[in-house]
Amino acid sequence: MKSSAPGKIILFGEHAVVYGRPALAVPVTQVHVDVEVLDSPRKGIWIHAPIIDLHAELNSLPPDHAIASVILKILPSPLRPSPSGRGDGGEGGLDIHITSTIPVAAGLGSGAAVSIALIRALSSFLFLDISDDQVNSLAYEIEKIHHGTPSGIDNTVITYAKPVYFIKDKPIETFRAAKPFTIVIGDTGIPALTKESVGDVRRLWTKDKLKFESIFDEIAQIAIVARRSIERGNPQLLGELMNQNHSLLQEMTVSSPELDKLVQAARDAGAPGAKLSGGGRGGNMIALADQATAESVARALMSAGAKNTIITEVA
Ligand code: PMV
Repeated sequence: MKSSAPGKIILFGEHAVVYGRPALAVPVTQVHVDVEVLDSPRKGIWIHAPIIDLHAELNSLPPDHAIASVILKILPSPLRPSPSGRGDGGEGGLDIHITSTIPVAAGLGSGAAVSIALIRALSSFLFLDISDDQVNSLAYEIEKIHHGTPSGIDNTVITYAKPVYFIKDKPIETFRAAKPFTIVIGDTGIPALTKESVGDVRRLWTKDKLKFESIFDEIAQIAIVARRSIERGNPQLLGELMNQNHSLLQEMTVSSPELDKLVQAARDAGAPGAKLSGGGRGGNMIALADQATAESVARALMSAGAKNTIITEVA
């Protein structure tokens, strides 16, 4: 049984989204996680994830291991069909193969994509009828184990694989671009843990709530105007909104010299706007482009030190 999940990128509203403000995110289908679950003649549940150099039997991993915790959530479900012996002392076991082209700790949702592809592949293998909403809430529980206080935006955009206008604890809203637009994603190549930048913002917010609440309110306005511009077919307005959002993220201390350099390089190459995306400090930035300029913006990012670029269209 196979399942695949895309990466994601946040267009507007990261960090503020943790404090109940709206954020916009889109799937990035150029990168993905693929999971295959197969019957195996040998006993046990064997996990093969070459990207993290993991070849192990489930029981040899700690129960809070990122991959083991997903499998354990699905396998002991009371919905599980009568014991087939799979992995639990019967005839044979399972082989779970996980491959990924999503860079880890880069703001592209690799953790949530692994959880979601794994939940879907395992539940189909076990003939469990699991809805998107159930996949999403299971993936959110896993995110909470590993990422502190996540807003849930990563698991939501990846589960539904559609552009989402996300507000924490509110019903999911998807949106459509009336006119397609192009985003260039540039990777600093610096791994950064979202948990840390989210924790730092929380400490700063605790010290100066007035300042941070007002930054979050400004970001909320940007996200609202951005959604309207996208839905009304005015994506050219997004550039200025990205620049404003980036300045506010700088004020929140989550940018870095490398991110700022890539943002500036994109603007210098003609992108009408650019910003960091995701937790910040490292990971990825995005720039608005169009089909004509995307390649040259991507080249400028590589010359400015990006380790990789992805050109994606929001349609
Ligand atoms: O997973 P990342 O790095 O794209 O960051 C998620 C966005 C944050 O707003 C920083 C955190 C969250 O949980 O929403």
